[in-house]
Parts: sequence; C-alpha cells; structure tokens
Amino acid sequence: MTLSGKIALVTGGNRGIGLATVRALAKAGATVHFTARSAANIAAAQRELGDIPATGHLANMTDRIAMATLLDQNFDILVNNAAVIAPIGRILDISAEDWAHSIDVNLTSVFHATQRALAHMVAKGGGTIVNISSGAAHRPQEGWSAYCAGKAGLAMLTRSVHLEYVDQGIRIFGFAPGVVDTDMQVAIRASGINPVSKIPRENLAPAQEPAQAIAWLCTPAADTLAGQELDVRSPDLRAAAGLPQLD
Ligand SMILES: NC(=O)c1ccc[n+]([C@@H]2O[C@H](COP(=O)([O-])OP(=O)(O)OC[C@H]3O[C@@H](n4cnc5c(N)ncnc54)[C@H](OP(=O)(O)O)[C@@H]3O)[C@@H](O)[C@H]2O)c1
Repeated sequence: MTLSGKIALVTGGNRGIGLATVRALAKAGATVHFTARSAANIAAAQRELGDIPATGHLANMTDRIAMATLLDQNFDILVNNAAVIAPIGRILDISAEDWAHSIDVNLTSVFHATQRALAHMVAKGGGTIVNISSGAAHRPQEGWSAYCAGKAGLAMLTRSVHLEYVDQGIRIFGFAPGVVDTDMQVAIRASGINPVSKIPRENLAPAQEPAQAIAWLCTPAADTLAGQELDVRSPDLRAAAGLPQLD
C-alpha cells in the first residue's frame, strides 16, 4: 500500500480517529498535514506521532478564510474527519444555537472545505476525499438530532459530489468508522441517553482500525467503491483493507 507522492490533509487530526489517520497515511507513504484548533493540540499530536512526520496547521473548521487558505496548498487527499457530537439532548432540552453550530461544523464547513479542495483536484485531473460518516447518518439515535441530521446530510453531499465529479477523476467515499474508543465516546457514555451510550468501553474498536481502512480507501485499490457510503464493519471492506474479521 503506497501513497508515496500524495499530499494529504486530515481535519481534526490532533486526536482520536483523525490522529490515527494521520499516522496511517504517513505510514502508507503520503506527506501528511492536519488541522487542530490550538498550538498546544498540534504539539500534543506531534508528541504522540514521535518520528512520524506530519505538519500541523491551526484552523477551526468554521473559519472559512483559514480553511480556504490552507486548502489552497492543493492536496491530493482530503479526509473530512473533524466533527462534534454536541448538543446531546432531546430537542426540547437543547438550544437552536447549539444545533446550528453542530450542522455548521459537521456539514456546512465540510461543504466549504470540499468545494475548495475540489477546485484544485478537478484542475489537476483527480483527487480523493474521504468524508467520515457514521451509523447515525442512516439510523436515528435519541438525543442526537443535530449529529444524525448533519451526518445524513454529509452522506448526501458525498453522493452528490460523486455524481458531479466522478468523470473528472474525483474519488469520494463516505466511511462509517464503527464505534471507536475516542474522546467522543467518553462524552457519549457520560450522557447515558441512548443505546450507543450504553456500549461498554471494552467493546469499542481502537482508532487504528478505521484509520487503516481510510488509508486503504486513498489507494487505487478502492476505486470501484467510490461514491459509496462504506462501513468498517463490512467483511469485504475489512478483508480488502487488511483488517481482521469481527467475531
Ligand atoms: N468515535 C466514534 O465511535 C465515531 C463513530 C462514528 C463516527 N465518528 C466520526 O469520526 C470522526 C472522528 O471522531 P472521533 O471519535 O475521533 O472524535 P473526537 O475524539 O471527539 O475528535 C474530534 C476532532 O474534531 C475536531 N474538531 C471538533 N470541532 C472542530 C472545529 N470546529 N474545527 C476544527 N476541528 C474540530 C477536534 O478538535 P479539538 O481537539 O480541538 O476539539 C478533534 O480533533 C468524526 O467525524 C465523528 O463524527 C466517530
């Protein structure tokens, strides 16, 4: 598996699935860049990465100018990973402002990043975008109306980009990473609001698993899957990406 010569950007690459994806893409040979929201978070990620080279950039997903300036560096691979689970709560218990912020981070900002990246990718004849999806894009969960709506919208954005740009060399994937042992699941467990929040930590997957599959999606071996919403729990995908089968 080689991504040698490819330049990749992972949003929210300072922790969780994003950080594991930075590591997996770099190990596959890509030159990797990632966003984080503070210099301290970039430094912490660099410490975790050790000898693995990756360049951190300060950028909030909702900062259109910072993101556009960064995306003008012309990446071959964009992993739209950054997202928020908040607000967690039933609709009468959450604010419209928090709901709108979730949609901004998880959907509208991804549209802006994708639009900017696409302009460069189309101009040079190709590129890969991986949108990190969720089971919540397709199955509602109590207390997650904003997150589910944002991820459902993202799944449609993925499929729309595929229809519009597949003929111009754009490979776009939606990828649900499974239930993964990250800080997002800490917040979910603390809420106790729905069945996902009751999954014990020991049943969660390590972030390296989805990261390995994301890196595989960035290789030509995944070409035939472009335009689809994929799930790390798919036996065929796991076999192709070199992941062990689930029990
Ligand atoms: N973990 C799971 O079980 C699971 C399941 C299904 C889907 N996913 C998806 O997988 C992706 C990664 O999730 P995770 O579990 O690794 O989450 P996480 O541990 O909560 O990390 C989220 C990342 O997104 C960044 N982020 C949040 N808001 C941002 C903003 N406004 N601008 C820029 N960056 C922002 C965070 O930055 P800070 O460190 O600055 O907050 C962090 O780097 C997300 O798209 C999530 O929806 C996760």
